[in-house]
Amino acid sequence: MSAHSALRDATASSHERVDAAFSSYDLGDAAGYAAFLQAHAEAFLPIEAALDAAGVERLIDDWPSRRRSGAIRQDLAQLGEAVPNTPSPTPMAIAGDGQIAGALYVLEGSRLGGRFLARRVPDGFPRAYLDADQAPGNWRKLLDRLDLILYDAEAMKSAIGAAQEAFAAFERSGERWLKG
Ligand code: HEM
Repeated sequence: MSAHSALRDATASSHERVDAAFSSYDLGDAAGYAAFLQAHAEAFLPIEAALDAAGVERLIDDWPSRRRSGAIRQDLAQLGEAVPNTPSPTPMAIAGDGQIAGALYVLEGSRLGGRFLARRVPDGFPRAYLDADQAPGNWRKLLDRLDLILYDAEAMKSAIGAAQEAFAAFERSGERWLKG
């Protein structure tokens, strides 16, 4: 089984939960869209920062072009919204290639659903985060890297744990911001 299939299978139910949490936001409404971005930012920013700190660039050479913290901050600023400062209850610590790979899989994979969600966002709303340009083949390139990095069972186990934790952070934030 490829590392990708193993990660996808192990996190399928986590994905269903984040999908459910974020599908309830009204992206056609400025307040709903702002809350959606706030929830994403609250989960996304600390994970991306933890990946930076853990040295993710060692594992994927085009990392700088994959970063999206700037995009989500820019969208929030254009909407006149603050970047959330509610620290997540358990800030994620990422260390080692396995954990880096698992968290990276979640952040990069979230672009795939984002493409569909972007269609529900009206013209005129800032959408740098959801629309962030991906060079063609970037997802495939990441999956190939995952196969190389997650060559042993121990690394794979760490990756699955980190991916589940990353999904859980999105799920928590998604539920919290929906309630307002
Ligand atoms: C309403 C919210 C969401 C919807 C509707 C959604 C939908 C989707 C869809 C349709 C795909 C498959 C796309 C394709 O194969 O081209 C996908 C993949 C994926 N999404 Fe989501 N998604 C949502 C939220 C999220 C969030 C918040 C995350 C993580 C933070 C996430 C992580 C992933 C990952 C990792 C994959 C890749 C799965 C694989 O390995 O093939 N998604 N999503």
